[in-house]
Amino acid sequence: MQNELDPDRMPKHVAIIMDGNGRWAKKRLLNRIKGHEKGAEAVRIIVRTARKLNIAALTLYAFSTENWQRPQLEISGLMLLLRRFLKSERQTLIENEIRLNTIGQIDRLPKEVRENLEAVMAATANNKKMVLNLALSYGARAEIVDMVKQIAFAAQKGAIDPAAVTPEMVADHLYTRGIPDPDLLIRTSGEMRISNFLLWQIAYSEIFFTPTLWPDFGEDEFVQILENYQNRERRYGAVTST
Ligand code: IPE
Ligand code: IPE
Ligand code: MG
Repeated sequence: MQNELDPDRMPKHVAIIMDGNGRWAKKRLLNRIKGHEKGAEAVRIIVRTARKLNIAALTLYAFSTENWQRPQLEISGLMLLLRRFLKSERQTLIENEIRLNTIGQIDRLPKEVRENLEAVMAATANNKKMVLNLALSYGARAEIVDMVKQIAFAAQKGAIDPAAVTPEMVADHLYTRGIPDPDLLIRTSGEMRISNFLLWQIAYSEIFFTPTLWPDFGEDEFVQILENYQNRERRYGAVTST
């Protein structure tokens, strides 16, 4: 792979809103599920690329809390694809020392999916090279509500002082606890919105929107976006000397 990337300035955490599977299928007069199938191929490629480039964390928005409103047939198709993905990727995750983790309301997923997830998470639990974080039945507002409830209950019990709540404590009660905030957020398919993804965690992420539909997203474009990221100046509200 030829590229201009500086290995010392790679983002530690990349998060991706993988959007456009349905439109990819529609353009080809195919069923939406065909788009999701092709999208799963793109996931395989991007996971391998991220690992190869030494990115420490990759979070993929695979299914939102709002996506439960989709037709039942599409939902079950997505769940089946997820199970297939877990089965086919298990060995790759092990060989590449990638740990699987999930964020979201996992208890809402069908039992078989949960069991498959738990098995792969257990098989990869000690892997240290990269964390593949799948956002499943994920919604940032639900995550924030859960965090508020946990902190409120702890305060009610007297375990914490409400006056002593800090940003670190908030972060520690989100599903992403232990994972640094994304340095880079990518959304495919040309939509320029966040769609209830990682609201707290992206406060200072660099954002990149691409018109490419997710099934067409590949290694070359990923590398180009990383090059673009490396050319940006992250100021975090401060002034940098020129
Ligand atoms: C993203 O593709 C995958 C999921 C949300 C599960 P979409 O299914 O949203 O595709 P479009 O946006 O309809 O093209
Ligand atoms: C966001 O895409 C969720 C995922 C990629 C899983 P959607 O297609 O669900 O979002 P909207 O409806 O365009 O906001
Ligand atoms: Mg969409």
